Amino acid sequence: MHRGYPDRHLIIIFGATGDLAHRKLLPALYEIEKHTSARGRATILGVARGALNDDQYRRQVIDGFKESGETDPALVEWVNKTVHFQSLGDQGPGAYAALRRRIEEIEKARDIPANRIFYLALPLPAFAPTVESLGHAGLNTSAGWTRVVIEKPFGRDLASAQSFNALLHRFYSEESVFRLDHYLGKETVQNLIAFRFGNALWEPIWNRDRISHVEITAAEELGVESRGAFYEQAGAVRDIIQNHLLQVLGLVAMDAPAGIDGTSVSNEKLKVLRSIEPLHDTDFVLGQYAAGELNGKTMPGYLSEEGVAPGSRTETYAAVRLWINSWRWEGVPFYLRTGKRMARKTTKIVVTFKCPPAAVFNPYIVCGNEGNRLTITLQPNEGFNLAFQVKVPGEGMRLHTQEMRFRYADEFGRLPEAYQTLLLDVMRGDHTLFVRNDEVEAAWRVCDPLIAGRVPVHAYPAGSWGPTQAQALVEADRYQWVNV
Ligand code: BG6
Repeated sequence: MHRGYPDRHLIIIFGATGDLAHRKLLPALYEIEKHTSARGRATILGVARGALNDDQYRRQVIDGFKESGETDPALVEWVNKTVHFQSLGDQGPGAYAALRRRIEEIEKARDIPANRIFYLALPLPAFAPTVESLGHAGLNTSAGWTRVVIEKPFGRDLASAQSFNALLHRFYSEESVFRLDHYLGKETVQNLIAFRFGNALWEPIWNRDRISHVEITAAEELGVESRGAFYEQAGAVRDIIQNHLLQVLGLVAMDAPAGIDGTSVSNEKLKVLRSIEPLHDTDFVLGQYAAGELNGKTMPGYLSEEGVAPGSRTETYAAVRLWINSWRWEGVPFYLRTGKRMARKTTKIVVTFKCPPAAVFNPYIVCGNEGNRLTITLQPNEGFNLAFQVKVPGEGMRLHTQEMRFRYADEFGRLPEAYQTLLLDVMRGDHTLFVRNDEVEAAWRVCDPLIAGRVPVHAYPAGSWGPTQAQALVEADRYQWVNV
């Protein structure tokens, strides 16, 4: 990964009045200002349709910070000095030419070299027209560097992702595109690389000889909240499996990269994604939450949420079994699952190792789901647990499953927010934690069968671990989901 001071630049945020900008991007930029070597490097230009001037937008930004409890007296000064706003109005002819003039004016007035980051914090349908308008206004190149950040979801399926990649490449080189998946910015996800390749311990056993199966779960207690209309167009596969979980799978299953840089890491993740065998309808289960009890409260079902169409078949849960056709993983099932309104918020990877080859402790040996197991908790309560067998002191040879535990909070305190890490990497031009065009397409190739609408969507009560049918998926292989 590249370290050092980023060049001075202008970051142009499209969707500047939206939720993502206020809740994640501006706070991350402020954290970067306060706590990193990039202090004073970024100037911000918010862009949206609304007819605001600089002062009105600055007030909106400051109010947003205050609502989230930020009380730092230096904040107001930073906002007034750093943040600007440009309205696109109804985006009629001339809107992007005016934007270009504004960018050049700010650069000139503040003596900023023409280094530009265009951050598209926009809904999916707005990506392509915005990229096209930027390109036609000549905002795809500059005397310095130009980078464009695209938030997930990147396309709706393989075909749309391919055509969006083609459009992007008409105006921007792959090197200047940063496809952002915020999971890759989580410390615990980055740590998968350090954990696997910074230790000699794991590599000899990280394969089909010693690993029985791997489970990756992203369970949320939240429902769709106020995002019903958005979620209707997405569903759990597009929202989480295609991007967050397949990226995590890539890091768990990949071979050692030639180095820790964008090309090397993407090459290895791509190999994994391309080696996943095509999914059949019997390899996955979809679900949708119905009303149920969660944390002592009765939660409404998905169909009663605002913005959800009557009789909607959008899945809020998906469980998938997949096989990676490679020398390392042949015969090892990987189970991925995600769901909203599940019993508990937890994102974790559970690696279950095979039983000892000879059952010398029979009949006392406990194996299968009780054998050696490595649990990597990505959030919350980030850390590792390694379960192994010990002898119970006293007469006879009785075995007991014991755990070694490590928790980040005990050692390192608070972890940085994903957006802070990722924005800093864009400023430095480091692609290690971003998703390359071919990875996105390979991930859609895996997911297209899941969104073909061929399988039933089973109801599950809010506050549960998903539809009962998902049990059968793992039980068919004699395993159980790890619901802790
Ligand atoms: C987003 C999804 O990408 O990730 C949301 O669109 C989801 O639906 C969120 O809630 C989960 O992120 P995290 O960081 O809370 O696991």
